[in-house]
Amino acid sequence: MNRAFTLAGLIGAAIMLPALASAGLAGTNDGAAAVLQQSFTAKGQAGMDRLDQDDVQRLCSRAPDGPALSEKEYAEIMASEEASIRYPADGQYLGDWRAGEKIAQNGKGFQSSDDPTQSSGGNCYACHQLAKGEVAYGTIGPSLYLYGKLRGNDAETQRYTYAKIYNSNAFLPCSSMPRFGHKGILDEQQIKDVVALLLDPQSPVNAE
Ligand code: HEC
Repeated sequence: MNRAFTLAGLIGAAIMLPALASAGLAGTNDGAAAVLQQSFTAKGQAGMDRLDQDDVQRLCSRAPDGPALSEKEYAEIMASEEASIRYPADGQYLGDWRAGEKIAQNGKGFQSSDDPTQSSGGNCYACHQLAKGEVAYGTIGPSLYLYGKLRGNDAETQRYTYAKIYNSNAFLPCSSMPRFGHKGILDEQQIKDVVALLLDPQSPVNAE
């Protein structure tokens, strides 16, 4: 079954590699960026500016082929991303876990086919296990099942969880988890709702 897939991949690679090599770009991030510029088509809200990287993305994209990030660069990323976090003015981190579960399930937002006037989801299940009852989940991120039960629900844990969701890179530079608050994917109330999904003792995430 995999044969057709592999074959198509090989043909694709065979077409692409000489083109990159002749441009002298094979295996570099400049090469990948050039291919994206050529192949990406602006559509609806997904304009060409989607290919513009911010400083963190540029540094993190350098690592696979270019010089590894230095300790200083890691520290700079964490400091700039920590500074981006806007904590709730009312000091409350816990919203409504029921709303949080809907946000965690919702993968809509920012695609060319999505309505930009509607609020986006967090798509947490794409990468994490959360409530035990949901069997469809990805495993790029660690399981968050029983997160609150294992961590407790004190003020420090609430603040960390809010901040981690707001900007994952404040704690782990170059994390593949989206920076939900920093990039305006989720608003303050939505992040609070998702924090409640993780920490509220009544949430299905904490039900054994
Ligand atoms: C594209 C994949 C992806 C998505 C989507 C994603 N995460 Fe993550 N998440 C990760 C990865 C990878 C890690 C581990 C690395 C790290 O700590 O940044 C992680 C770590 C975490 C942690 C830290 C866990 C700990 O033990 O401290 C929390 C909390 C978390 N995610 C919550 C969420 C929530 C809530 C959502 C949805 C709003 C979400 N994540 C969406 C990939 C993702």
